[in-house]
Amino acid sequence: MNRGQDNPDGQRQRWPAGGPVGKMVRGIAAGIGLASETYHHHKANKASKTQAGRDADSDTAMVAQDEAEQRHDAHLLQEVDEVAWELDEAQDQVTGQSSEPHAATEEEVTGLADSFLDTHAQAPAYSPGQLSLPVVITQRRPGSRTKGFVRAYSPVLADVGIDQATFLDFLDKLNKSVQPSPWIQAINLAGLAGNAVPLPFSILISVAVKKTTDAAGELHSRSKTNRFLDRVNESFFAPRGLVALVMTWKPSQKANMFTRAEFDMQSSIATAADGSKSRRMFESSSGATSFEWPETAPLVFPALDELADAEDNDDGAAKVKKQSAIKRSGKFVGEYMDKRARAKWAGENPDSSMANATGQETFSSRYADPNHPASSGDPIALLTGGSLQAGLGRNIRGSPANDARSGLRGRHGLVGLGRGRGRGQLRSGEGSSGGRGGLLGSGIGPLSLVSGARKLLQDDVLYLMIVQRPTEEQMAEAMTYMNSVRKHELYGPISSIKVLGQLIIILHEKQAVIDILETRALKTASRPHLVFANDVVGYKDIMGMMPYNRRFRLHRKLTATQTSSKSITRFAPAQELEVSRFLSQLLADSESGSDNLQDHLNRLSGSIMLRVLYNYETRPGENDPFVNRANQVMEEFSKATSPGAWVVDLIPWLRHLPEWVPGTGFQKTAKIWRNHLMHSVEDPYNYVREQMAKGNDNVSYVAGLIKDVHRHIDAEEESVISWSAASMLNAGTDTTSAVLFSFFLAMVLSPDVQKSAQEEIDRVVGQSRLPSFEDKANLPYVQAMVQETLRWHTLAPMGFPHLTTEDDSYNGYFIPKNTLIMPAAAGLAHDPAVYHSPGDFQPGRFLEPHNEPPASDVVFGFGRRACPGRHIAEQTLFLAIAQTLAVFHIRKPVDENGNDIKVEYHMLPGVISRVKPFPYSITVRSDKRRSLIK
Ligand code: HEM
Repeated sequence: MNRGQDNPDGQRQRWPAGGPVGKMVRGIAAGIGLASETYHHHKANKASKTQAGRDADSDTAMVAQDEAEQRHDAHLLQEVDEVAWELDEAQDQVTGQSSEPHAATEEEVTGLADSFLDTHAQAPAYSPGQLSLPVVITQRRPGSRTKGFVRAYSPVLADVGIDQATFLDFLDKLNKSVQPSPWIQAINLAGLAGNAVPLPFSILISVAVKKTTDAAGELHSRSKTNRFLDRVNESFFAPRGLVALVMTWKPSQKANMFTRAEFDMQSSIATAADGSKSRRMFESSSGATSFEWPETAPLVFPALDELADAEDNDDGAAKVKKQSAIKRSGKFVGEYMDKRARAKWAGENPDSSMANATGQETFSSRYADPNHPASSGDPIALLTGGSLQAGLGRNIRGSPANDARSGLRGRHGLVGLGRGRGRGQLRSGEGSSGGRGGLLGSGIGPLSLVSGARKLLQDDVLYLMIVQRPTEEQMAEAMTYMNSVRKHELYGPISSIKVLGQLIIILHEKQAVIDILETRALKTASRPHLVFANDVVGYKDIMGMMPYNRRFRLHRKLTATQTSSKSITRFAPAQELEVSRFLSQLLADSESGSDNLQDHLNRLSGSIMLRVLYNYETRPGENDPFVNRANQVMEEFSKATSPGAWVVDLIPWLRHLPEWVPGTGFQKTAKIWRNHLMHSVEDPYNYVREQMAKGNDNVSYVAGLIKDVHRHIDAEEESVISWSAASMLNAGTDTTSAVLFSFFLAMVLSPDVQKSAQEEIDRVVGQSRLPSFEDKANLPYVQAMVQETLRWHTLAPMGFPHLTTEDDSYNGYFIPKNTLIMPAAAGLAHDPAVYHSPGDFQPGRFLEPHNEPPASDVVFGFGRRACPGRHIAEQTLFLAIAQTLAVFHIRKPVDENGNDIKVEYHMLPGVISRVKPFPYSITVRSDKRRSLIK
């Protein structure tokens, strides 16, 4: 608010009392006064009703003190909205606008934001101040004929350069934009506030702003009203450091952070004859007890100001206007105006016998009292509630500065509804904690009207809130806080469930994972026993399925010799060859407009595996027997291990029944699958032996193991080698291709990241060749992309289950033998305490200055079962990512009008989770780069 200026003599400029400022200030004071009177009038009525109820039935008065206080507390706080509604309706009466405003057409709505921004968008020339309190504007009375928000202004908005006329124009246009929309998308604070943990208000707002900003991009799903708000937020509020949000409290939809809300909805408040029954404050309805809604800014109702102002300047026209307005506005406003006129006359004629005879008029607020300095037109007096005067306003005789109702206590709020720290402590009325005082500071204290309260949200009512916009940093911190709060709130470090008698423990914290799966690895390295898959089909010799026993240890020992980071360098030529084939397939697709990315990725990872394990070269484009067999076995394996799919897993003795017994059809299936499995284990192994005999293979995994034996190989060794290779084929194909598929999605969604990677590749490698493993050390950003790909979409979101083989305990939790342990890998990879903005694809997190821990620490499993193919997988990912980005752009496709088609990330269910197929466009970056593809 403009508080005066220096004149050329360096003296403080005085505002003439009758000048525009004085008029405006008096108007505001009168408006506040009327509002305050309304509030007290309302409260008095309520109190007398309550008392009557108590007198009628004294037994019911014996309600527990606590409950009574809580209800009382709730009612008074809800009246804050009630007062706003009454004042709003009084305003309508005064202005004669009780009917529904002209409903804008769809086209008009589109133009509303433009027309508002054309007039007001220009940011203030000076840097605006801070909004000291959130401005919360309630929707018009639910169920009333007029939709939208009450037409009120808060003087604190002047501190951020938004004057009353501008704000009202905004509200009017917003209300118009509401008219044709059946619904508005609102932030459901019940969905944000969670169940038990109190969330600081600042965190809530930050999360709400972040979510709203994210949602604003999705124009398709937003109503006209939201679009109006999005535009005004972007071009009007944001440059002023503010944000406008529509919020509601809908505990019935706690799972949703956003909710579709309808202005027309008959809320419980609107329909309740007596609020005590159906009005629910959120504390009691949600079980959340400590949601902190802070003090809100005071509101004034401009039409009431004007009315009061007209009263103070009674010229002919104003008088007529006032009288007709009072007539329309109902009894209460009329009485108030009469009382004010009598008091004013008495104040101006203190010696008149008439004035003395009628006795002094009493007002609940000094602003209502025309004789009080607070309503003199002196802005300082207005701001300080009359306790300080600059001598600028009307002369008030017999200044009541010493009046018990004012003086220094005047710094407090008028209608102060404060909530003390302890539950149920409520202070109300003048002199309470309402205003935060502040003489000239924020201008909050004395103007407190329907504020000074920790405002409570009522179910299903919409609130428009203007608040200081949090910084990006605050928003990121808030998201981090939210995520960690939720996780701890919901689970703690470990949680357990029992499914069909099987105890499952889920580990949510890295430390618990390390303590249980690594430090106690000897007790937690087994696997669940699946009767059908293991015993009936025969997958018990597939490494991933084996119990923790001697044979398993032999498998792992042999495998380790061939898969260390040093040993796998010999597979590099095979990987390079297969990746270059993949590039040609992509090029062919991009030129023919085909869309076979997933097939190409499956072929890429399968071919790499067959080369690495057996030095077997697949025939491109042909029906390859090894590839077909491998695919078939993987599919059958996945069916055989589906939880709950096989009744014999629940009733193991069924497997002993002969095949002709009805209900044992699984035996037949198992026989066929076992046959396929045995071929997939033996055929490639025999192929290697043949090739070795011809001197053609001394590099493959199998050849490496056979060579290492140095003597005649025995049957057990043969079995372990062939089965471990088949296990690697089974475990390494789908996984790598699924991770690469998620990489393509990440690129579609993160063009900036793609650009950074391409810049690095171009700088380090140039354009005359493709990147290779030799470049790896010089491509830190691409390496970070491999880690980010593994982290962002966590392939095995719950890891693979480990089974305990002994009783144990951990931090007071008893973990019996035969318990399934599952690490919440996706949770760990998205732990906001470890990875900032965990939902974003940001390879930079692994580099300076963040240096967040590599994702491979958590996505490849733990302890003695950790993935033995990890280094091979990371190499394949590196090469495929580097070479693909060297030659291709991966983007969103465009529709027939040239607009980007919307692409979203969704994960599909499953122990191994793929991303849901998405639209994409892959194009070669340049002719020169095309020539690098063979
Ligand atoms: C990006 C790709 C890959 C990911 C994310 C991945 C992840 C995993 C995970 C989470 C496990 C379970 C670990 C545990 O139980 O704690 C696992 C096990 C396994 N992985 Fe991988 N893997 C990938 C690629 C590969 C590749 C390429 C191979 C083979 C070359 C492979 C072979 C295996 C085997 C044989 C097991 C079973 C280990 C056991 O039960 O002892 N994986 N992998």
